[in-house]
Amino acid sequence: MSFKTTDQNRFSVATPIYYVNDLPHMGSAYTTIAADAIARFHRLQNQSVLMITGTDEHGQKIQRTAEAAGQSPQAHCDYYSAAFAALWEKMNIQPDRFIRTTSARHEAIVYEFFQRVWDNGDIYMGQQQGWYCVSCEEFKEERELLEEHHCPLHPNKAAEWRDEQNYFFRLSKYQSALEQLYSDRPDFIQPESRRNEVLSFVSQGLQDFSISRINVEWGLPLPVNPDHTIYVWFDALVYYVTACVDPEAEPTLANALSGGWPVNLHLIGKDILRFHAVYWPAMLMSAGLPLPQQVYGHGFLTKDGQKMGKSLGNVIDPVDLVARYGSDAIRYYFLKEIEFGRDGDFSEVRFVNILNADLANDLGNLLNRTLKMVYKYCDRQVPTVAIADISTEDILRSKGKTLGAQVAQAYEVLAFSQACEAILALVRASNKYVDEQAPWTLYKQGKRAELEVVLYAVLESVRLAAYLLSPLIPNISNAIYQQLGYSVDFNHPDVAEVAPFEIHALWGSLPVGQTLGEAMPIFQRLELPTPPI
Ligand code: MSP
Repeated sequence: MSFKTTDQNRFSVATPIYYVNDLPHMGSAYTTIAADAIARFHRLQNQSVLMITGTDEHGQKIQRTAEAAGQSPQAHCDYYSAAFAALWEKMNIQPDRFIRTTSARHEAIVYEFFQRVWDNGDIYMGQQQGWYCVSCEEFKEERELLEEHHCPLHPNKAAEWRDEQNYFFRLSKYQSALEQLYSDRPDFIQPESRRNEVLSFVSQGLQDFSISRINVEWGLPLPVNPDHTIYVWFDALVYYVTACVDPEAEPTLANALSGGWPVNLHLIGKDILRFHAVYWPAMLMSAGLPLPQQVYGHGFLTKDGQKMGKSLGNVIDPVDLVARYGSDAIRYYFLKEIEFGRDGDFSEVRFVNILNADLANDLGNLLNRTLKMVYKYCDRQVPTVAIADISTEDILRSKGKTLGAQVAQAYEVLAFSQACEAILALVRASNKYVDEQAPWTLYKQGKRAELEVVLYAVLESVRLAAYLLSPLIPNISNAIYQQLGYSVDFNHPDVAEVAPFEIHALWGSLPVGQTLGEAMPIFQRLELPTPPI
């Protein structure tokens, strides 16, 4: 897959890279599901798209976990990294590139990046004293910690006192450049609440931070002093640049620049906002590289109000969830039910109820009952109706007319929930329309023209809903399109070539006379297991 900075119409989205200290949980899948949906939306618009992800494999946390398991760190990383890649496949997530920080290509990029920062005079040796949370891989201010120096994100773990010589990055030098960035580009950090958090943090004055470790073997040796290894976060952030190098090209910063760096969008959870909105742009400025367009910090999936995480042991197993309910159900639930940017609690009762209501009843039944009527009354073919003959007052036509643009706008700003609500509103209006227009009565009364308008309008509304929901539920959209007589694969990266947005996002594009496929339930009603999760 090639992606170039010279591509006029391009879009790139990056997820963080995941720590391989344990198997992925639903919280780690959340960012990646959102990134995949947004990548799919841009592919629908026929843009050249690059979606990147990977695994973060160095550092003390990984070293300790591997040791505790009696494994070599590399063997440990190989196993867990593969588990992440396998989960993305199960969730129907299609990253274009998957980067591992233990790869030689990434190492080459980190060294070139480090050298630039070094040559710029931004690295110096100093004494680091402070409380270190190994689970966050981050020094914490004493005032940020709970009792007995426990980390608020990992309340069962105490931060450890460190007093050692480290190399430091001159973050303080970039104070005013960063402030300038935030004021020149108010969209750089989104949503607004996260932007404010960063502004307030930066206004307190930036401290230099240490970028080497003396007591961690599992990392890249510091080129200027091999007794130290590079701090895992310095190493990890640079993955974004590594991922832009075409896999066929030499791993150099120049090739990252021609291969698509900087990315448009960093999607991250709010716990790692500072690294992405403060440290990372400063590191890029120091290395003389352009900055990404936007950093979006989403909320947490919580269980009983606490961040879901392996360290806390309150996780939901995504492999189990996907085996039980399928990928579309999970993608839909998390993106629709949790307003992106805010925290959201998972409840299996709610999960089952929402999916049954939206996908099995509202969308699934609508398609099913309409298809059966079309089979019976119109010989299995999309009724031959001229759009001009459908009144502009027709509720489905008028709602459908603006829906594509409205949903596109919602996807642009990552308002997945809003996009779903708007689409579902058309679906619900369609159900009501069928009940009110009663096609079976029109048929009995011999009102052929009216009957055909009603059936066309409903089929077309289901089609439009399927198209616009395809970034979230591509398999269900495939099934709907198939039953409507199309052969379109929403999982194909070039889907826009056969189903372009300019045509398919418009109400009224369903070809008249098209022979319909077999009617089959698109989503099986879910049963709640006992006891629920
Ligand atoms: N390795 C670092 C990121 C380095 S990026 C250069 C890291 N890894 S992580 O595995 O701990 O988290 C990866 C992503 O998963 C982060 O965006 C984080 O916010 C997200 N999530 C992990 N648990 C989460 C929830 N419970 N809820 C939502 N997302 C959370 O940080």
